[in-house]
Amino acid sequence: MTQVLFDYTRQDASGASRIEHAWARVPRAPAPAERAALKNRAKALLAEHGAVLVAHYYVDGDLQDLAQETGGCVADSLEMARFGRDHAAETLVVAGVRFMGETAKILSPHKRVLMPDLEATCSLDLGCPPDEFAAFCDAHPDRKVVVYANTSAAVKARADWMVTSSCALAIVGHLHERGERVLWAPDKHLGRYIQAQTGADMLMWNGACIVHDEFRGLELELLRREHPDAMVLVHPESPQSVVTQADVVGSTSQLLKAVVDGTAREYIVATDNGMFHRMRQLAPGKALIEAPTAGKSATCKSCAHCPWMAMNATQGLIKCLETGRGEIRVAEPTRTKALGCIDRMLAFVAANPAALAQPQRGFVRNLGSA
Ligand code: 13P
Ligand code: SF4
Repeated sequence: MTQVLFDYTRQDASGASRIEHAWARVPRAPAPAERAALKNRAKALLAEHGAVLVAHYYVDGDLQDLAQETGGCVADSLEMARFGRDHAAETLVVAGVRFMGETAKILSPHKRVLMPDLEATCSLDLGCPPDEFAAFCDAHPDRKVVVYANTSAAVKARADWMVTSSCALAIVGHLHERGERVLWAPDKHLGRYIQAQTGADMLMWNGACIVHDEFRGLELELLRREHPDAMVLVHPESPQSVVTQADVVGSTSQLLKAVVDGTAREYIVATDNGMFHRMRQLAPGKALIEAPTAGKSATCKSCAHCPWMAMNATQGLIKCLETGRGEIRVAEPTRTKALGCIDRMLAFVAANPAALAQPQRGFVRNLGSA
């Protein structure tokens, strides 16, 4: 087990921000000889408990493979929510970070939702404390409250809309067309990107993803010179200097689709490198290059891998199924209140499937002048 410490930005109700510290305890990787046995044990337990594994693209490759091999899913946060809601299994095992487990539970209160490690959180969630957020909303009652999925159930309970990176642009665009002013939280980079694309009036919370915040525009420019034909794929939690260089900006599923469908041979990818596992499986033969982060030398701080996603391991999955520990609970009335903003997003996406198409070259490169 390795304990890693991180800085993250936390805003308060007045709009002021300060730096706080958080930790993640990352389990040791099993030895190659152990991995097959662990996977077999996990498969047997999933079957025994009638459970289905819902995994995010950033978690360990063995967990992603387990989900694929056992009828579960590997997906972005929107698709994880829909899959968990629609699957008949009575037990969902969510491999990802806490907000993903909470969303599954909010949507399916009668199902048991387990997670390999309940302490796996997210800097965006940590940086948006519910009480401070509620006070901030109270101070701006004239705005529609739109929150990113990467928030606690209590923050969602205060929101009008939840969005994920795959549909945020379409939903805020829709609100803007209706003349609504938006209070946006917590990711400042995603918020700024959407604001520039839509022209919406958005009051921003000051939060960031500690992983994507590390991608660097200047170094990306230099890398692009070395690979002039490479397509640049960027998750919108990245800084503006990186987003402006993208050929495609999108959620994890949208970036995966861009690699699978793309005609280029090389792809520079600015997102958590856990994503490369599925990209390599679905687009063999294409060259994937990690976008540069703040310090190549360095610590895990700039290793382009989320420490909280890394807390998910096959051993943890086995333990939660064996012991029943790691169960997500969302108390009432928070659950019912949070359900409103999630259901609104899911209804919008169901009615507007084109909303999930990712922006392409040209559209994105206009960002600088928007
Ligand atoms: P996606 O919705 O794109 O999967 O993003 C979730 C996330 O946490 C990215 O850092
Ligand atoms: Fe949160 Fe960033 Fe980790 Fe995604 S990658 S879960 S946004 S800290």
